[in-house]
Amino acid sequence: MCGIIGCVNRGERTLETLVDGLERLEYRGYDSSGVSLLGEELSVTKTAGKIADLRAALEERPLDGRLGVGHTRWSTHGPPTDENAHPHLDCSGEVAVVHNGIIENYQGLRDELAGDGHTFTSDTDTEVVPHLIERALGRGASPEAAFRDAIAQLEGSYAIAAVVGDEEAIFAARSDSPLVIGVGKECAEGDREYFLASDVPAFREYTGKVIYLDDGEFARLESELAVTDSDGQPVEKTVNTVEWDAEETGKSGYDHFMLKEIHEQPRALRQCLSGRADELAGTVELEEVDDVSPSSVHFVAMGTSYHAALYGVHLFQQAGVPAQAFHASEYATVTPPIGDALVIGITQSGETADTVSALREARSRGARTLAVTNTVGSTADRECDETLLIQSGPEIGVAASKTFTGQLAALNLLTLATVESGRTRRDVVPELRELPGRVQSILDDSNAEEIADVYHDSRSFFFIGRSYQYPVALEGALKLKEISYEHAEGFSAGDLKHGPLALVDDDTPVFAMVTGDDEIARKTVGNIKEVEARDAPVVAVTDGQSNAELYADHVLRIPEAIPRAAAVLTNVQLQLVAYHVADNLGRSIDKPRNLAKSVTVE
Ligand code: BG6
Repeated sequence: MCGIIGCVNRGERTLETLVDGLERLEYRGYDSSGVSLLGEELSVTKTAGKIADLRAALEERPLDGRLGVGHTRWSTHGPPTDENAHPHLDCSGEVAVVHNGIIENYQGLRDELAGDGHTFTSDTDTEVVPHLIERALGRGASPEAAFRDAIAQLEGSYAIAAVVGDEEAIFAARSDSPLVIGVGKECAEGDREYFLASDVPAFREYTGKVIYLDDGEFARLESELAVTDSDGQPVEKTVNTVEWDAEETGKSGYDHFMLKEIHEQPRALRQCLSGRADELAGTVELEEVDDVSPSSVHFVAMGTSYHAALYGVHLFQQAGVPAQAFHASEYATVTPPIGDALVIGITQSGETADTVSALREARSRGARTLAVTNTVGSTADRECDETLLIQSGPEIGVAASKTFTGQLAALNLLTLATVESGRTRRDVVPELRELPGRVQSILDDSNAEEIADVYHDSRSFFFIGRSYQYPVALEGALKLKEISYEHAEGFSAGDLKHGPLALVDDDTPVFAMVTGDDEIARKTVGNIKEVEARDAPVVAVTDGQSNAELYADHVLRIPEAIPRAAAVLTNVQLQLVAYHVADNLGRSIDKPRNLAKSVTVE
């Protein structure tokens, strides 16, 4: 989704702060970018394409200024063109605005403003904002009053930053779209550096002190910071300290952020489990959910997080608690009877509009809500009754990898802490503590790269699994689709013969997840035989306890583990397969076409 950056009191480093910050927001997905600086006058440079294109334009015509805003745009209204890129200006060129979100009533505002003589140069919803500010200024309002007046007329979701006239300040406001403020160091003249962004990585190298704006709040960044409510009353805000450091958002020598994040999974698991799962005592401490003991559960999530929700359904059902997983985007339409269900939103960004909307729907109907998220201060975190943080650290690659693993681990902690027996805890907690080491052994020894070399140009890829391995089959297919753009599909292993088997031939490798040697494993081996009999290449992802390997062309080995833990391990092998297939095909792995890290529109 779009990215916003702003800074004040950075002196001659203003431009580099903005452009470098935009580069650190690239992971959000974008197709144009731009900056506006206030110096002797208000200047703007913006281009379709990548940040490199913006840098080239700035090389030709550098901008200077004492403060400024920048933006990466992921098109929602109008194609990615120079004119549609942000920042957007008013008629006079005195007001510059950047925006993330959707202004739902923009057409009416645009018609009204055009009727007042304002001319528009873009197709975007955003462009109404600078003209609303200009109109208010023309009626005698101060820059701040004009900004507030414009915001008050907007309906929809927005994170907005504006430079108004020659006021030495940045004005910001948010509703349903994240904005975070960085509190920088004091400058020589007694002023203080302040940063504004959609997400912390944009300014993390300069400061770890952050303030999360809440919906309906306004911020004025000048020599000092003022946060006020919609009535202009000061709001007391907490200054949080971000634990992770800027290098964690660098590639650390890996070719891609995604590969780095796949390899960070042992650490992400340890971070998720630390202080919560006590191996010796076989206990789980989760004060976030101390008084949570659901009699039934509704999961709402999208994408990879939806697959984690399916996994969570298994965990609760195995513990005797009825559970259902809903695509968040469907939740409001199916309006399932909620009763006393706990509604759990799984969302690594905490900003996915579909999921946030479903959680709001649940709350409006009196449900208790829990967010399973990776992002402190996110909308889901702040609006749910409880939050279970997955502690994976920043994930820059658009396709989720370590956050999915973190979600699975967190869901185990959740059921172990709330609905599972002491005996189960004593059996499972040691297995959870083994996970980081077992994942590491897969990362060290995997032959996924050579299997990707063999099959990277196949027509289609199929993934099959049962029980906990069914969500893994879906996730393995999604990962491959997301970053290789090749067709892939996941199935419950038993479902293959009810139709999809018609697609199976020698150009459709089938990845079969088979762990343990129980009835489930034996049935899945039967499914492997079905596809093998139709000449499909078979890759068994297995711990070797069953005889699956007898019918497979290749094996991706995992260490033995209990079923709920084995799903974490097989998924790591499939992440590596997806990565190497995409790498073979030369794809833009960290920023796949058409995708965004956080989709804040429904
Ligand atoms: C998509 C991401 O935009 O959103 C996926 O590309 C992700 O990787 C999905 O699974 C849901 O995101 P979140 O933040 O709600 O988990």
